[in-house]
Amino acid sequence: MIREQFIVEGLNGHKTLQGEIAVGGAKNAVLKCLAASILFDDVVTLHNVPVIEDVGRISELLRAAGATVNSTDPHQLEVTPPTEWNPVLDKSIAERLRASIVFTGPLLARTGSVSFPFPGGCVLGERPIDLFLQGFEAMGAGVAEDSEGYFTVTSPGKLKGAHIIFPFVSVTATETLMLAAVLAQGETILENSAMEPEIYSLATFLNSCGAHIKGMGTSVIRITGGGLLHAAGEVYTTPPDRIETGSFMLLAALAGRSVTVTNCEPKHVGALISILQKAGVPLSVGQDSITITAGDIPNEAFKSVSVRTHEYPGFPTDLQAPMAVFLTQTTGESTILETIFDGRFRYADELIRMGADITIMNPHKILIRGPRHFTDKNLESPDLRAGLAYLLAAIVAEGTSTIENIYLIDRGYEHIEERLSRLGLNIKRVAA
Ligand code: EPU
Repeated sequence: MIREQFIVEGLNGHKTLQGEIAVGGAKNAVLKCLAASILFDDVVTLHNVPVIEDVGRISELLRAAGATVNSTDPHQLEVTPPTEWNPVLDKSIAERLRASIVFTGPLLARTGSVSFPFPGGCVLGERPIDLFLQGFEAMGAGVAEDSEGYFTVTSPGKLKGAHIIFPFVSVTATETLMLAAVLAQGETILENSAMEPEIYSLATFLNSCGAHIKGMGTSVIRITGGGLLHAAGEVYTTPPDRIETGSFMLLAALAGRSVTVTNCEPKHVGALISILQKAGVPLSVGQDSITITAGDIPNEAFKSVSVRTHEYPGFPTDLQAPMAVFLTQTTGESTILETIFDGRFRYADELIRMGADITIMNPHKILIRGPRHFTDKNLESPDLRAGLAYLLAAIVAEGTSTIENIYLIDRGYEHIEERLSRLGLNIKRVAA
C-alpha cells in the first residue's frame, strides 16, 4: 500500500468555500448488498457504488469466496455467483473490516457452514460478535472456536426460523441474521432490530428479487424463508450516504460561504438538521439537497448544543467526531454523550493539541468549551470518521496541516480532496 498524506491549507476561521458537493452512495449500504449477493442464483448489479477502499476490500472477499466481481463503470458493480461458494472467509481481508462479518449469515445459509476470523475494522472500543453467534445457534447452527480465534459455524440442514430478541440494537447483527433468515426454513422474527435506512434499502431490494421480509425500517423484522433469490435484471441503487451528507453539512457550516450538498436524502439526517438549527446554522432543505449559507455568520455566533449519539433515527455515532470539531468553534459549553461505543474519543487529544478545550469526563462523555482558535499540526487519524474530523479541524485552523494515514479516510470517502478542491479548498494528496 502506498502511504499518502493530505496537505491542507487552513482557512483560519474564514468561511470561503462555495458551490455544490454531491453525496455518493452509502458505504454501509453497498457493503451489505455485496454480502447479500451470496443469496442469489444470478448476477446482481449495483449502481451508485462509491469508489472507496472498503468496497474494494469487500469485492476481494467476495472473489476469494468464489464470485466474479466486475466493474462496468467506476460506480457500478456486477456480482456473478460461482457454481460453488467457498465458505472459509479470507482471513487477511476479514480481519481488516467489520463489514466482513455480514458475509457469515448468507454463507452459512447458502452452504451450511462458514469459517471466519474475529472481524477487524475501526478500533472503537470492544466490538464483540456474541449477538451473531447466539443468533446462529437460535437458528439451529453449532458454533466452534479454535485456539487461534477462528470460528466455524455449521448447520446440519437448512437453518431454522427463530424468534430472536436482541438485548441491544446492532446494525450488522440485524443485517446478518436477516440475510441468513432469507434462505432459512420458516419464519424468523428479529425484535429490537436496528432501523437504519441502509437496512430498509437492502430488504426492499431483496423483496424485489423474491425475498419475503416485512417490517424493515421498524424494530421488528419478520422474514419468511424460501429459495435462492433471483435478480432477473433488478438493480440495487445504493442510497445516498447519510454520514457523508452530515460531514459535508458540518463542513459547510464551519467553512462555507454558501454550499449546497446535493444528491442526498434530507430525511436521513433529520437529527443533525435539528441540532444545527438549534445552534443557529441557517439551512434550507430541498427535496434531495441541503443548502447552508453561513458565510456572513462567524462561527463564534453559533450556540453550543449538547449531543447524544443514538441508533437511527437518533444522532449517528459516525458523525460524533466531526460534530465535536463544530462544537469547538461555537460559543459556550457543550457535552457529547457517546452511547454506542466506548472507545470513540481517541481523536480528542489531537484536537486539544490544535487548540481545542475538551475534557474527557469518562469513556462515554466529553465536555467542549468554545470558541477556540486552531493552529496547524501534523495529524494522524485513529479511524475513518476521526480522519474526517481532522480534515475539518485542519480546514478551520490557521496554517498548513498535514493529515497522515489517509488510507483510513479513503475507506469511506471517495476522492475527498478532489471534491473539496472544487469548493475552493487548497488540499493536496502527496506521497508520505
Ligand atoms: N455489539 C456487541 N455484540 C455484538 C454486536 C455488537 O456487544 O455481537 C455492540 C458493539 O460493540 C457496540 C453496539 O453493540 O457497542 C452497537 O454496535 P453495532 O453492532 O450496531 O455496530 P456495527 O454493526 O459493528 C455499524 C457500522 C458502523 C457504525 C455502527 C453504529 C457497518 C459496517 N458499520 O457497526 O460504522 O458506527 O453500525 O451505527 O455497518 C463507520 O462507518 O465508520 C462505522 C464504524
